[in-house]
Amino acid sequence: MTPSGSWRIREVAARLRAAGVPSPESDAVSLMALAGGRTVAEVRRADILGELPANDVLARLEGLIQARCERIPLQHLTGSAPFRNLELAVGPGVFIPRPETELLVDLVLAELSEGGRVVDLCTGSGALALAIKQERPDAVVHAVELDQHAHAWAERNAASLGVDIDLRLGRAQESFPELDGTVDVVVSNPPYIPVGMVPVDPEVRDHDPEVALFGGSDDGLRFPLEVAARAYALVRPGGVLVMEHADVQGDILPERLGRSGWVDIVDVPDLAGKPRAVRARRKPVVDNPHNP
Ligand SMILES: C[S@@+](CC[C@H](N)C(=O)[O-])C[C@H]1O[C@@H](n2cnc3c(N)ncnc32)[C@H](O)[C@@H]1O
Repeated sequence: MTPSGSWRIREVAARLRAAGVPSPESDAVSLMALAGGRTVAEVRRADILGELPANDVLARLEGLIQARCERIPLQHLTGSAPFRNLELAVGPGVFIPRPETELLVDLVLAELSEGGRVVDLCTGSGALALAIKQERPDAVVHAVELDQHAHAWAERNAASLGVDIDLRLGRAQESFPELDGTVDVVVSNPPYIPVGMVPVDPEVRDHDPEVALFGGSDDGLRFPLEVAARAYALVRPGGVLVMEHADVQGDILPERLGRSGWVDIVDVPDLAGKPRAVRARRKPVVDNPHNP
């Protein structure tokens, strides 16, 4: 192939496609932008005009293409992942926030009154906690993460974005005892993949930390239910839990939450129409005990 033929977007995308990369065209543009220090729009414009990148850019691009063909996550190469209005720093040691998780922010914001209190259990890069605080600066936001590397990424994101949250290192199951009964919304995207299941995508299987993936039991629900139990103690009467789950858990998780005392349970699909998140409420206080 001549250089001019091999470095067009469609040629780069073809190499990525052949390696099984799921979104080859947009990844090609992102890698070309990264290699050349350009915006995505500038890369597309140069491609239309048939402009060939400079040699040093081509050398950088070749390395990036090879890494992506080895299924290193795009976000590890760019060093960032978009989430709602934020660009979060990510890399080895932290779960890459997914677009489908953005839905949880809408579910939280719909429940949050002025100055409300939110707790994000299992915060990873800080995605949910930071996005909620950025979109609702009046809210008081707390977050906890078990893994010290992920916690460090969250700390770095909070500092570099200038978003003020109460971030702790520890187990969600025992977190924030001082907040019991005071929280308006608990949000969580916990590890929920059934133990023994092997994720298909190498980006997930080989690069997302194991502690971020597996739910601790054959059905993947042990950790989500432990987190939900902690959430039940944290929320005030009438307070809400918003939790992400696997698409196959859209019936079983709401049912198990119902058996644990949660009421007003609604399961919400993601943009692809797959069951993705459950919203459940702690029973409100009954004003008249004779008319429950
Ligand atoms: C699926 S990732 C989600 C991360 C982030 N909330 C997001 O949506 O991008 C789950 C996160 O939970 C953390 N984690 C696992 N077990 C935990 C526990 N018992 N307590 C607190 N965090 C935990 C993992 O380290 C990981 O960062």
